[in-house]
Amino acid sequence: SGPGPLAGRRALVTSGPTHEAIDPVRYIANHSSGKQGHAIAAALARLGAAVTLVSGPVRVPDPPGVTVVAVDSARAMLAACQAVLPVDVAVCAAAVADWGVADRAPQKLKKAPGQETLTLTLTRNPDILATVAAPGPARPRLVVGFAAETEHLLEHAREKRARKGCDWIVANDVGAATGTFGGDRNTVHVIGTEGVEAWPPLTKAAVAERLAARIAEALAEDAS
Ligand code: C5P
Repeated sequence: SGPGPLAGRRALVTSGPTHEAIDPVRYIANHSSGKQGHAIAAALARLGAAVTLVSGPVRVPDPPGVTVVAVDSARAMLAACQAVLPVDVAVCAAAVADWGVADRAPQKLKKAPGQETLTLTLTRNPDILATVAAPGPARPRLVVGFAAETEHLLEHAREKRARKGCDWIVANDVGAATGTFGGDRNTVHVIGTEGVEAWPPLTKAAVAERLAARIAEALAEDAS
């Protein structure tokens, strides 16, 4: 942690996809470059916070001035996050797989002659955002989630905010035409206690800057 409006504050950020192993060489995952989550971790660190970034497998470099914990599965991500608590603010930007593979094969699965189908049993993964946002003594003062949607953006995002118990939801349209996945730009709406704010189209770095500044304001208000 360094000088700045978030000096002395601790932040947890999740980023990237999770990989749910099917066997030693295959996995199930979501699309996620980690660009937005990593940019948020970097922006919070620039404002002086002590930031731990818990990231699934990504190709983007580790942000400067941030402690990075690399994980693979959703379960590993949850355990790593719980080890970081308590924090002042948590931003869950990871694209966590909703389902893990029930009985992960210890050896590479082989195709049997004539086999035309393969059935995998999936089990529900823990919801990291909902777990971190659950009421209790270790709850961060501010919990921010993301909602990547392809339709009914605000309706789904509002519902998600209520269901997961987070304070703010950053909603982004990830429909194919938007170029959000893997791209450098993002158009978001921020849903908080005071309603919905539409942000203009921005780079992911600018979304991160603006979000970090808003987080600093909110924590400062909270303390006074
Ligand atoms: O339900 P959905 O995955 O769309 O919710 C998105 C939000 O919830 C994101 O902030 C994501 O990081 C978080 N999430 C999570 N753990 C899960 C699923 C989603 O933290 N298992």
